[in-house]
Amino acid sequence: MSENTNAKQAPKVATGDRAILPEGAQTIPVFIMGKRYEVPESLTIMKAMEFAGFAFLRGAGCRGGICGACPTVFRFAGDYKLHFGLACQTVVEPNMYLAQIPFFPANRATYKLEELDGTAAAEELQSLYPEMFRCVACNLCTKACPMDVKVMDYVSAAKQGNVEQAARISFDCIQCGLCASRCMGELPQYHIGQLARRLYAKYIQPKAEHLAKRVVEIESGKYDNMLADLVAMDRENLEKIYIEREREPDMATPGSWMPKETCYL
Ligand code: SF4
Ligand code: SF4
Ligand code: FES
Repeated sequence: MSENTNAKQAPKVATGDRAILPEGAQTIPVFIMGKRYEVPESLTIMKAMEFAGFAFLRGAGCRGGICGACPTVFRFAGDYKLHFGLACQTVVEPNMYLAQIPFFPANRATYKLEELDGTAAAEELQSLYPEMFRCVACNLCTKACPMDVKVMDYVSAAKQGNVEQAARISFDCIQCGLCASRCMGELPQYHIGQLARRLYAKYIQPKAEHLAKRVVEIESGKYDNMLADLVAMDRENLEKIYIEREREPDMATPGSWMPKETCYL
């Protein structure tokens, strides 16, 4: 956090559902939708906004940096530069000007994955999102990404017809939409990346044979009795078998450990 020259002692009384701050907690000024608020330092933007009285009816989900529901744009007083982050992950700093972008109206193509022709995945991706060719390689999308995804690179891979590359590079995308908000070509980058991952997973990636085998085993009822026994067990016995269960030793070399009981493998 940058040096806090504007810190104040936080109020000790709670109003409504505001948190009661610990003794000595400091507050800093931030600007939310243009209005100045004093909020406790060390809070995330999301919690600071809630402290200031905002309620997140939309634009909040996991609160753990996974769902992509809480993209935030901010700037510091006296500085022209825009910054981007997730409200649930980014900690407030003094004199931030904050705005939430819980939804960005990027174009999303309509398709049924199972009706696409997987043998022509690259062409399908390009025909569903022809706007990808409007990319001018400015890289603003990459700079805006709170997940450090190389957005421009996966768009380039999609343009070159490399669906696997587009899928792999976009793997950490959480669909927050910040990249699209910055795009002068008006691309829906994250929808392009998502379709690339769907096409790759369904039509290109080798199938996991062990998974298919396990699904057949589950459907054949191999685990039904074991599950029924667990469901019928009282808490005490459940805890006992949980504590006594065979466990892979910490730091075991991958692939070197096998349980003694192998009937459910
Ligand atoms: S912001 Fe848009 S135009 Fe610029 S590199 Fe990203 S996709 Fe291309
Ligand atoms: S690629 Fe775009 S939508 Fe995905 S996390 Fe990055 S900025 Fe958000
Ligand atoms: S609330 Fe899910 S990423 Fe922030």
